[in-house]
Amino acid sequence: MRKVQLKYATSATLCFIAAAIIVLAGIRAWVTGEPHSTAGADLFQKKGCTQCHFTDSRETKVGPGLKGLFNREKLPESGRPVTRENVRRQLIDPYENMPVFKDKLTKAQQEAIIDYLNTL
Ligand code: HEC
Repeated sequence: MRKVQLKYATSATLCFIAAAIIVLAGIRAWVTGEPHSTAGADLFQKKGCTQCHFTDSRETKVGPGLKGLFNREKLPESGRPVTRENVRRQLIDPYENMPVFKDKLTKAQQEAIIDYLNTL
């Protein structure tokens, strides 16, 4: 009888440990998941935006410097109002000479980059 109880106790404990590991792994993934703006900064670099845009000034590199973009009233080249929509539009269907990023960025990546621009 005792032995049987012990068996139950052991398997219950093992179950509990397994469940705890799964839950902790989930929490860890959630906690270490990169915040949006870091992902956007990464993309801004990896997708080559830095080749043409400064992020710490308004000086022109190839395209306009993007510092404080979302604190301005108008986008630097097109003069369109600074909205997420208009920045998205610039990525998909650029105003003039900027390369098209429509197929190089997923929707989520576009949003992450816009989030990042919002922090400059
Ligand atoms: C090869 C150079 C080049 C690259 C790479 C580039 N841009 Fe541009 N960007 C430009 C130029 C030139 C302009 C000026 C407007 C135009 O030509 O469309 C511009 C304009 C902009 C503007 C202002 C648009 C406006 O309406 O005034 C934003 C915002 C912008 N770029 C964001 C980005 C982002 C984000 C990336 C990366 C995904 C990027 N650019 C990559 C050259 C570049």
